Amino acid sequence: MEDKGTLWLPENASTYAGDVDALFYFIYWVSVVLFILVIGAMVYFAYKYRRRSEADRPQPIKESKLVEASWVVVPTILVAIVFTWGFQVFIKMGVAPPNAYEITVRASKWNWLFEYPNGARSNELHVPVSRPIKLKMSSIDVLHSFFVPAFRTKQDVVPNRYTYVWFEATRQDTFQVMCTEYCGQQHSTMLSQVVVQSQGDFNTWLAENLIDESATPAERGELLYNQQGCFACHSLDGTTGSGPTFQGLSGSQRAFTDGTTATADANYLREAIINPAAQVVQGFAPVMPGQYGTTLTAEEIDALVAYIQEQ
Ligand code: CUA
Repeated sequence: MEDKGTLWLPENASTYAGDVDALFYFIYWVSVVLFILVIGAMVYFAYKYRRRSEADRPQPIKESKLVEASWVVVPTILVAIVFTWGFQVFIKMGVAPPNAYEITVRASKWNWLFEYPNGARSNELHVPVSRPIKLKMSSIDVLHSFFVPAFRTKQDVVPNRYTYVWFEATRQDTFQVMCTEYCGQQHSTMLSQVVVQSQGDFNTWLAENLIDESATPAERGELLYNQQGCFACHSLDGTTGSGPTFQGLSGSQRAFTDGTTATADANYLREAIINPAAQVVQGFAPVMPGQYGTTLTAEEIDALVAYIQEQ
């Protein structure tokens, strides 16, 4: 059954999306009815009591206890309904079922990295269908926000702490992931996908994405280049991004904003990953996150250096 959503809401593909939508449409229709009543009364009264001559003066109006009571009681009841209903949905969305499958999410400028219990990693979130998935999320730099419109799943991803969100996808398909908190220059390109698969396909995919121990350092570096999102700023084809391209970088002369220069040897590349603010290449701003020295292992840094040296 293909569901393309409505004018107001996107397609609906998680177990709690229907609860969110029902509450949304309740508030929507209550608002439509109140809008028509209020604006209708206003237009009607403006016409009925319009001034007809110079001598026309307003007549004193007697209060109506019924009308006054109704505009206190009716909104109070509506607000109580919306609060109770909304709180129930909020709790349902906030508390993951105890059997949920946990995936770690690491957000960075401008990349999503997903880590699975067996050690596999990916930039696209792969999940089995009809199974609760709990995401344990943190950011290595600034505030990001994980948003899957089709699941009605949205949660801030914050540095120095974990935030959690869960969902259960209801059908096998591919859904858009967005960053929905402004996080810098390339915020709008911080996109990914959720690939919802059968449990069998998911298991096969997981096994295939385990880190290959027989890979060369440069091959592992290529994997890291993609997983860590280096490509967001460092191109391989000579295009200038937020950072210098990796094409022809190794061995070249680098001129820095402080007027010094250096040859881009292995030590320079290693230092530029671990401590990017120490020497900023002319023409670039010091925007690279400084956490890679702690979030990457020594072996991973070696692999990235080896990969950059091959470009
Ligand atoms: Cu990350 Cu916007």
